[in-house]
Amino acid sequence: MCGIIGYIGKQQASPIVIDGLRRLEYRGYDSAGLAVLADGKLATRKRKGKIDEGLAVLHKQSPVTGTVGMGHTRWATHGLPTDENSHPHLDQSGRIAIVHNGVIENYDSLRKKLEAKGHTFKSETDTEVLAHLIGERYAALEKAGHIKENAATHPLAQATKDALKDAVGTYGVVVISEMHPGVMVGARRGSPLIVGIGNDENFLASDANAIVNYTKRVIYLKDYDVVTLWEDNFKMETVSDNSGSYQISDIEFDAEAADKGDFDHYMLKEIFEQPQTVKNALRGRMDFEESTAKFGGLNMSVAELRAIDKIVITACGTSWHAALVGEYLIEEMAHIPVEVEYASEYRYRNAPIDKNTLCIVITQSGETADTLAGLRESKRRGHTVLSICNVVGSTIARESDGGIYLHAGPEIGVASTKAFVSQVTALTLFALMMGRIRMLSNRRGTQILKALEAVPGQIQKILDQNDEIRRIALKYKDCHNFFFLGRQYNFPVALEGALKLKEISYIHAEGYPAAEMKHGPIAMIDENTPTVVVLPTDALYEKTYSNLEEIKARKGPTVAIATEGNTHIAEKVDDVIYVPETWECINPLLAVIPLQLLSYHIAVARECDVDKPRNLAKSVTVE
Ligand code: AGP
Repeated sequence: MCGIIGYIGKQQASPIVIDGLRRLEYRGYDSAGLAVLADGKLATRKRKGKIDEGLAVLHKQSPVTGTVGMGHTRWATHGLPTDENSHPHLDQSGRIAIVHNGVIENYDSLRKKLEAKGHTFKSETDTEVLAHLIGERYAALEKAGHIKENAATHPLAQATKDALKDAVGTYGVVVISEMHPGVMVGARRGSPLIVGIGNDENFLASDANAIVNYTKRVIYLKDYDVVTLWEDNFKMETVSDNSGSYQISDIEFDAEAADKGDFDHYMLKEIFEQPQTVKNALRGRMDFEESTAKFGGLNMSVAELRAIDKIVITACGTSWHAALVGEYLIEEMAHIPVEVEYASEYRYRNAPIDKNTLCIVITQSGETADTLAGLRESKRRGHTVLSICNVVGSTIARESDGGIYLHAGPEIGVASTKAFVSQVTALTLFALMMGRIRMLSNRRGTQILKALEAVPGQIQKILDQNDEIRRIALKYKDCHNFFFLGRQYNFPVALEGALKLKEISYIHAEGYPAAEMKHGPIAMIDENTPTVVVLPTDALYEKTYSNLEEIKARKGPTVAIATEGNTHIAEKVDDVIYVPETWECINPLLAVIPLQLLSYHIAVARECDVDKPRNLAKSVTVE
């Protein structure tokens, strides 16, 4: 999940690299480093810790100049976050530097072979082994007299290709060298890497956020692509041959979309963006004429959609919670059985899936390794795979047979918020469309569209309660355990609320179906263990209310997420946060907002790093 940026051009590389790393820090922040070719000599600066505490301080003390450089912000996979384990890493000769995102699975055996040849290593990382391997392959080309700047494949690219053929695992890697100061090489397999095409300058980056300030013209590298960059040109190849295909795309968002603006944290900005997020997800997809929804990118005919008799949805984390909401939506509206699987389990479970099953993967980043593996497992078995994804050009988006883009803009906060709401909006539209080509009535379709149309304004009404929600949050900031409860559509919302609290405040929290508390978890209830109950005024209100009473009977503090106008509940619970009235199937889009804000304010009060929580990274591109 590391962040990578490379620059080759006429400007000073260091400021561009450090700025890019700051924009990539949400991908991993254990340590950061850079390498610049200063008068043809490699100069590296690297330090553990976040950029502004480590690398930026170090570079200010000891700056490096040069117009070719690269940087890396790390989420540790091999070796502790230390200065030595930080990237960039050098080869044995010290003339070649690389930064790498991914896992070289056979690094240990490669390291032993290299040590047997006299190589010595400074770190515990797999990346340093890859650097030495590239150096070793370059030395072999030198020895054979194959170092020619104008060769069909540039020698630095050739050495990289030769090394990657022996590496098992995943990589997004950038390579620079003292021998060829006007050249930068990039390669990818399983970890994202994009080329940014500028005017007399070119870039490599692990995602578009790092370079959108400089160029919007990008090439999303495919697995096995190897690209050689000069300041005014580039050559695309693959690991196995010296020609390659590519497509130039335009980044769809502007630089300010990836800025915090006036908010204290990206997470808060993204929570407050959600009225617009829902509008973006709805835009062009609501068909009031036919009381249905329409999509431009499913690449499936109505007949093919009609023939679907089962749906399997795979995802991870928050996206998996959205998938669970999707299960209730699709089963209610389209009467199609839905199975929701953790992607990491699905790929090994060998689930019996018949031929008329549609596989859907849900992912904000489009790069989650487990979800990508689930997609590939479904495709291996011949199933059509649709993705619901936020990042255009991401690996999962490109490998799907069709899909639905969220158009939510970059989500920088590690704790996912607007992506969840956008995913659930997309799933509601998808369920509506699938229902309307089956038995869902015109009247019901119109009701759902009207309810969706009202959601942005309803979310804004909840956001307007931010100060009140903060007041409530501060009451519970020192608790050590939380429960979140909900029934039916609101059970996944309870799970999502628990995950939000855990991942940014480090308070232990569990989500359960409300009725499940009686089967054991209620033993945990005491006066120090609050329970947040999602309790809309719906058909199951009385049932869920009785679960809440069982908690109150054991002195458990209770917070209700209730429907506006329900004054009764305010007399029964310690705190209540109201959301506007809507259909049961639409309630998740509203009920999740207070849970996001509760978690945010508790985490801030506990002085946690809300945007970069400990141990986490935004896009989990390792398995
Ligand atoms: C959510 O707050 C977490 N950051 C994490 O669970 C995330 O949802 C999960 O890693 C899946 O990411 P994706 O949606 O990019 O695939």
